[in-house]
Amino acid sequence: MNVLLLGSGGREHALAWKIQKSRLLNNLYIAPGNAGTASLGVNIDIDVADFEAMKRFSLDHDIDMIVVGPEVPLVEGVYDYFHEDEDICHIAVIGPSKEGARLEGSKDFAKRFMSRYNVPTARFKTVTLENVMEGNAFLDLLSSPYVLKADGLAAGKGVLIVNDLNEAKQSLWEMLNGKFGAASKSVVIEEFLSGIECSVFVLTDGKSYKILPVAKDYKRIGEGDTGLNTGGMGAVSPVPFADEMFMEKVRSRIVEPTIEGLQKEKIDYKGFIFLGLINVGGDPKVIEYNVRLGDPETEVVVPLIKSDLLELFTAVATETLDEKTLETDHRHAVTVMMVSGGYPEGYENGKIIEGLDDVRDSIVFHAGTKKLGEKVVTSGGRVLSLTSYGKTMDHALGTSYKNIAKIKFENSYFRKDIGFDLSK
Ligand code: AMP
Ligand code: GLY
Repeated sequence: MNVLLLGSGGREHALAWKIQKSRLLNNLYIAPGNAGTASLGVNIDIDVADFEAMKRFSLDHDIDMIVVGPEVPLVEGVYDYFHEDEDICHIAVIGPSKEGARLEGSKDFAKRFMSRYNVPTARFKTVTLENVMEGNAFLDLLSSPYVLKADGLAAGKGVLIVNDLNEAKQSLWEMLNGKFGAASKSVVIEEFLSGIECSVFVLTDGKSYKILPVAKDYKRIGEGDTGLNTGGMGAVSPVPFADEMFMEKVRSRIVEPTIEGLQKEKIDYKGFIFLGLINVGGDPKVIEYNVRLGDPETEVVVPLIKSDLLELFTAVATETLDEKTLETDHRHAVTVMMVSGGYPEGYENGKIIEGLDDVRDSIVFHAGTKKLGEKVVTSGGRVLSLTSYGKTMDHALGTSYKNIAKIKFENSYFRKDIGFDLSK
């Protein structure tokens, strides 16, 4: 089959790496891709939200399946665009419909959905400028710290956690008045949950599902989880506290009610559900739903999948996922992200990357790179994600760090303590 993969990060390089191993693959195209995906398929210069260009390309290149990496095309309705056009409705889109993507595109929609199906999550109230007083009253009922979330997509920046009550009311007011643009015209106020987080990815055809290996990502820029939030500085899988008992709760209290809810509401959903979970005293609660895979979690989860990914995706498209088994690798996998100095604030692009050919026993997934003639240069905050396997997490980490030492680009930075909170 011919596959068009949308996106350009480490997640998409990992997906391309795995799709390339499929016995079903004929041609792989990546839009827009990066220097890493260029060695696995053909990068094409199409924006992930330009559906018309995607349609033309798909018809010209006989595309059979579109695999969607990032959330934006899903929230903007790429699934429906293909599904509803008779020229291209034969092309499978791996990702939910626009309605399903609201689980990520609107925090309020997600919270109400969870309430309807008794999915455990933080108590909440959604407010707009019209009922801001009710919002303040709800804040009065909660105790510090206070969690305020822009309802809409805000590029991962729309969540504020505030210690002081008056400051929380002030922040609520600023958000409703456009602090995050249209995304925060409506704000979800939440009870703060305390615990350790993990990411669970579920692949579903809308009826049955497979739960992928559990991962944990490290979002803060600084060691010991300090400093600003980033897209993610590293990830590990498996996660020790996500043991059989915990995962049974995840399955029965969260995954099954979620899939049942999608069915009851006739929401077309053929793709990934990302459960951002928090472990509150042994009980999983949902912090957020996303409708795609996480990055950098994908760079550890996908390498642990032994099954043929395109076979699974085909089963998703044909609603026969229940006939498939998901085979996974029982080793540990870790990934450590090398980023541009300055990230997540200002940084420079175009730094020449050296040493990529010296890497042994790790997989280098490119996150923000591009080709400049024969050279590979930096092209983003997150640059490279070095994934390794190991009998233990620490063993795998040792391999990634050994290889990071061989890669050079000006002002590179990485966290030296990935997995610090999980090591024995
Ligand atoms: P979100 O965009 O919803 O994933 O929120 C970003 C981050 O804020 C999460 O990964 C959590 O670390 C934190 N967070 C969000 N909601 C809560 C909550 N109710 N309690 C504690 N932390 C939260
Ligand atoms: N690593 C978290 C995310 O992709 O949203």
